[in-house]
Amino acid sequence: MRDSLMTIAILAGTALAGLPPALAQQAGDPAAGRRLAERWCSGCHVIGPGASGPASDAVPTFPAVARMGSTTEMSLRAFLQTPHPRMPNFQLSRQETDDVVAYILSLRER
Ligand code: HEC
Repeated sequence: MRDSLMTIAILAGTALAGLPPALAQQAGDPAAGRRLAERWCSGCHVIGPGASGPASDAVPTFPAVARMGSTTEMSLRAFLQTPHPRMPNFQLSRQETDDVVAYILSLRER
């Protein structure tokens, strides 16, 4: 009985932290990705549910990106590694790319 209460408490804690347990299997770390997004992306993007930011019709929010049918791990990687005319040219390391991709994809599951 105590054990199942613990499990519920742990699951609730993970849900509050925004990290579905299944994502632990991905190479990227969504929590690190979120911190990175707050630092590098939040100037233009609303980076998550409940995040405030300069919402503009020209810039998709990350939850919206996550929900787009065309968004995949590959498409995000390709996008982040290609110079984009309206986005500053990021030099994200491989790990940073993994993290930010994992973070954006994690938004899809809510
Ligand atoms: C200087 C403003 C700015 C910053 C900073 C910025 N973006 Fe963007 N981003 C944009 C704009 C504008 C668009 C829409 C551009 C377009 O699709 O032509 C966009 C679009 C996107 C898209 C959507 C691509 C698609 O398939 O439509 C993704 C994903 C994205 N940005 C990721 C990021 C990430 C990750 C960061 C931080 C590492 C970031 N952006 C930082 C301006 C910015």
